Amino acid sequence: MRTPIIVANWKMNTNLSDAIVLAQSIKNGTHQLENVEIVLCPPFVWLYPVAEAIEKVLNKRIKLGAQNLFWQDEGAYTGEISGKMLRRMCEYIIVGHSERRHWFQEDDEIVNDKVHAALRNGLKPIICVGEYKKMTEEQISRGRPNKVSVGINIINQLARALENVSKKDVQNVVIAYEPIWAISKGRLGSGNPADGAYSASVINQLREKIFRLYDWDTAQNIRIIYGGSVNSKNITEFIRQPEIDGVLVGGVSLKSKEFIKVCEEMAG
Ligand code: PGA
Repeated sequence: MRTPIIVANWKMNTNLSDAIVLAQSIKNGTHQLENVEIVLCPPFVWLYPVAEAIEKVLNKRIKLGAQNLFWQDEGAYTGEISGKMLRRMCEYIIVGHSERRHWFQEDDEIVNDKVHAALRNGLKPIICVGEYKKMTEEQISRGRPNKVSVGINIINQLARALENVSKKDVQNVVIAYEPIWAISKGRLGSGNPADGAYSASVINQLREKIFRLYDWDTAQNIRIIYGGSVNSKNITEFIRQPEIDGVLVGGVSLKSKEFIKVCEEMAG
């Protein structure tokens, strides 16, 4: 049985007091929820204050994650943060997010290096994959691109991200199908989520790839989630799909009431 997981990606938002208030309201609003894992991913600088703010529930109901890491553990890399620094601070790490692939030119090789850096430091990578092709307005409004051509691209991203990752280590990986065109409206996204059934079919293909790379048990146990413009209204569309094990939430994770609602729906 795969425990549903909800990942809150705060991106480059919040100031110190916003971060603490937000974390506390999520903590208070989710105390009755069971059988669901909630992972808060604040900016690096708020990891410690957020950990303090939710101290009593940390690592039980609520986990912490970081939004990025560097692929080396230490050295002359000005401005970077390593897995070795993060390992006592959080449990999860988002790797290969579409915004990082776009703005910082992170390619599949870098993503693979970061996955290894996370795993060797005992951190659980949440590996993001998704199509990066330009979509037509019509495809975006349908919530699905041309299935055949993009499917291969996503599967390749997954295979590259998992290169040389052992069967033992892959058990600590979460995969997120997060198409860039479906994230919140802005410079990159449309604000139109992918269609639930389409997302489930992509997730099925990803699971099948895990089966081919590893084995049946590994494929059945690994969690694969959806991300992109998830909110308290459209969440049901994703929950309805048994293939989808959770959601990666950006914009809505900054609105405590709505985010709590997403968690409640997920917990059933
Ligand atoms: P969004 O972001 O929910 O605001 O679309 C998701 C993400 O990019 O992680």
